[in-house]
Order: sequence, then C-alpha cells, then structure tokens
Amino acid sequence: MKTFDIAVIPGDGIGKEVVPEALSVLNTLAEIHGGLAFQFTQFPWNCEYYIEHGQMMPEDGIQILQGFDAIFLGAVGNPQLVPDHVSLWGLLIKIRREFEQSINIRPARYFEGLQSPLVHPKAFDFIVVRENSEGEYSEVGGRIHKDEDEIAIQNAVFTRKGTERAMRYAFDLARERNGHVTSATKSNGIVHSMPFWDEVFQKVKVDYPEVKTASYHIDALAAYFVTRPEQFDVVVASNLFGDILTDIGGAIMGSIGIAPAANINVNGKYPSMFEPVHGSAPDIYGKGIANPVGQIWTAKMMLDHLGEVELGQKLLEVMEAVLADGIKTVDIGGIATTKEVTQAIIQRLKNDK
Ligand code: NAI
Ligand code: MG
Repeated sequence: MKTFDIAVIPGDGIGKEVVPEALSVLNTLAEIHGGLAFQFTQFPWNCEYYIEHGQMMPEDGIQILQGFDAIFLGAVGNPQLVPDHVSLWGLLIKIRREFEQSINIRPARYFEGLQSPLVHPKAFDFIVVRENSEGEYSEVGGRIHKDEDEIAIQNAVFTRKGTERAMRYAFDLARERNGHVTSATKSNGIVHSMPFWDEVFQKVKVDYPEVKTASYHIDALAAYFVTRPEQFDVVVASNLFGDILTDIGGAIMGSIGIAPAANINVNGKYPSMFEPVHGSAPDIYGKGIANPVGQIWTAKMMLDHLGEVELGQKLLEVMEAVLADGIKTVDIGGIATTKEVTQAIIQRLKNDK
C-alpha cells in the first residue's frame, strides 16, 4: 500500500467548507484504486488561530510542514478579524517563500455545462506557468522626495536561474502533454529584462526540439486569451504577466469557484502546495453553497504531482460529467449545494469504477 502524507490547512471561510469535501473525494479515489491511501493531518492555522496565538502558524510551523508529501490548502483571510496583508503574509506567502515554490501553475479549460462569458467558446485547455518568486514583484526600489519632486522607483529582478527554471518547467510540461509552449514577452517596450527573457527562451528551446513554440507580446496575448483561447497549450510568463493572464483564464472559464492552482517546489527539496485560486469568500461562508469544484480540481493537480496521473484524469472527467448534467452551484447557474455537488462526483466515481 502506497501512502501519501498530506498536510491539510483548510484556513478561513469557505476553505473550511470545500476542503473536507475534496478530502472525501480523495478518499473515494483511494478506495477505488485499492493500492493507495491518504494520511491527512489537519492544521487549524487561520485567522481565529491568529486571534488566539498572535500568529498565523506556530513558530516551528514551517519545520512541521517540511516532512509532508504535499500541502493541501483551502483559503486564507478574514478581514473582519485580521488585516489581509497580515494573514496572507503570515501563512500563505510564508509557505510559498520558505519552501521555494518558485513556479505557480494554473490550468484553464472549457467545461461542458459551464457558462463561459465568451459568446461562442471553442474548447480550450491551457496551463499558465507563472514565475512565482521574482520578476516585477520585487522589493527592490524606494520613494524619495515629496510633492511635485516625488520619485518612486520599482526594480524588476530577472535572474537567469529563475527564468530558466520557469521555462524548463513549461517545456517539460508541454512535452508531457504533447503540446507546445507560448512565451509571454514585451521586448518591444521593456528593453532590458524582456530581451533577456526572450534570449533565455531561445536558449532553453534548443533542448526541446520536438516542442513547437511561439512568442507574443503580453498585450496581444491577453487579447488572444479572449478571442482565441483554444490556440494555447502551455504559456510561460513572468510573475506579473502570469498573474494577469491567469485571471483572464479564470474569467473565461466562467467562475472563480472553479479555478485550481499549484505552487511547485521544482527541486523537490520541500513540499509543494495546492490551493484553489479563490479566496475565503466571507460573503457566502456558512450558507453551504460554495462551489467545491475549484478545491476538487486542485486535488487533481496534487494527484498529478504525486504521480497519480490516471486517477487525476478520471476525476477530471467525472467532474465535467457532473457539471454537464447540470449538478452545479449557484455561482455557475445551478441550484445544488456544496455537498450535493461533491456527493454527485463521489457517486459517479463509484459507479464508473
Ligand atoms: P474571493 O475569491 O474570496 O471572493 C470573490 C467573489 O467570488 C465573492 O463574491 C465570492 O462569493 C465568490 N467566490 C469565491 N469562491 C467561490 C466559490 N468556491 N464558490 C462560489 N463563489 C465563490 O475574493 P475576495 O472576496 O477578494 O477575498 C476574500 C478573502 O479571501 C480576503 O481575506 C482575501 O485576502 C482572501 N483571499 C485569499 C486567497 C488565498 O487564500 N489564496 C486568494 C484570494 C483572496
Ligand atoms: Mg491575481
């Protein structure tokens, strides 16, 4: 029996509602598989924990998490109790940084049964690989002088290691998917970092002769995400460009409640972390209507990472079938509750077995 040791942090708000649902789905998959098991260890680290202990996680929280195969997280944030920058930096961002989760990947896919805001969406299925640790989101810079003399400087930092790491990840992924890679650039307007980005892309590409490539300026690329998303497979982007592109990816799917994400530690030195794109949704917390699909699809990404690709594929197909049957939550035009959607997925997994 293969056992995966998973650290579970439901976090705040609807994280506490959708995480248990995703865990039941994972347990069902383990039963169906027969030869594997999940050992879930729950950590109650959230804003209420902060109120009680003055921090989002214990002093040795990072060491505690270090031994796990993966971290499965819901959402963090309860602005009524704790300011968002305190809760996010005290838990989520801390884990991302300490565990060198330098790549963020977010798939977007057309689902039958989902209302995309695109009028005639063709089936799209792409993954954005976002550099997650440097680039435009750097702390280098500052502000000086006052009033009309005031100056603000913000430096972008692109290292060869970080850039190459993101690109190699994208190429490896494309090779696995029998797909192709698109690079998001802006070397016509940003004259140092982006020509560098393009050069690294050209260099890495040589090692993957079988993978087709394209390169677009970010402005045109953002427009293509809306007008012809079906054209893309793996898209590699810097931190800021990737941030923007993944929001468009989420938007054209139909609801933020669907979108999954993974923060990957590439060298395997530390655990990777899997969390949906959405937040704690305080406006719907406690009503039992949160869409569990984002969290469940996130579980699929964790399965892929753990090497259980077939099981993950099965889960994705069943998710799509359930949505196509019209069993969906209010945010995507249905009437089902969180539990009803999960139960439908579990039931179908068992029937299809
Ligand atoms: P949010 O994603 O929590 O909610 C935005 C809107 O989408 C709300 O109307 C919400 O009801 C809806 N929504 C989100 N997830 C849904 C789901 N699964 N099913 C149905 N509807 C869903 O973003 P918001 O409101 O900006 O932030 C709320 C809190 O979450 C804040 O404290 C914020 O800092 C935190 N947050 C945490 C994130 C994380 O843990 N990675 C990411 C984004 C926000
Ligand atoms: Mg964003």
